[in-house]
Amino acid sequence: MAEYTVGLIVGSVSEPSLNRRFADALVRLAPETGLVVRDIPIAELPFYGAQYDKDFPTAGRAFKDAIENVDGLLIVTPEYNRSIPGVLKNAIDWATRPAGHSSLTGKPTAVTGASKGVISTALAQNHLKAILVAQGAPLVGAPEVYIRITDDFFTEDGAIANEGTREFLTAFLQRLHELIRRWQ
Ligand code: FNR
Repeated sequence: MAEYTVGLIVGSVSEPSLNRRFADALVRLAPETGLVVRDIPIAELPFYGAQYDKDFPTAGRAFKDAIENVDGLLIVTPEYNRSIPGVLKNAIDWATRPAGHSSLTGKPTAVTGASKGVISTALAQNHLKAILVAQGAPLVGAPEVYIRITDDFFTEDGAIANEGTREFLTAFLQRLHELIRRWQ
């Protein structure tokens, strides 16, 4: 099985972050799917403004380079006010600039997210997928992965407790592997 690198973007800078915790547990499943996951941080990005297009700052360039140097992306988003958090939208705006040089175009991407609520980030993920489609990023369409975190979701050492959930999430990562392979 080919090995591919995947950039992990967690759409929260909260401390602690439920989605960071979920992402850490998800990443534990990656090795058996042939994916090597690298974190791509977003917290240090300034708020994007069009003045930066002419003189791209180091943080913006490093963020775009990080995306361009991986085979695919895994985005784990919370839902804030029925959409994605502003920090994640800001990061995506950086990735799409300067105009005509989007780092997301053609980048195979899988989206998921976790919350304790019943809609489990479904609205946020739908918004995020619409943004990514508009950038020409091929997406893992199925399975959709809306994670509801309950008190027994994680083991004491931070793994995903339920075997069926682990299998489901492993299959999700396998779909990302397949998508990357098809786009190579
Ligand atoms: C939330 N939360 C939330 N949950 C949800 O299911 N739908 C929503 O629209 C919102 N809206 C919302 C807005 C704001 C500003 C906050 C801070 C929170 C709850 C949210 O799912 C919960 O705080 C998670 O822990 C957020 O994930 P992170 O940031 O901890 O990874």
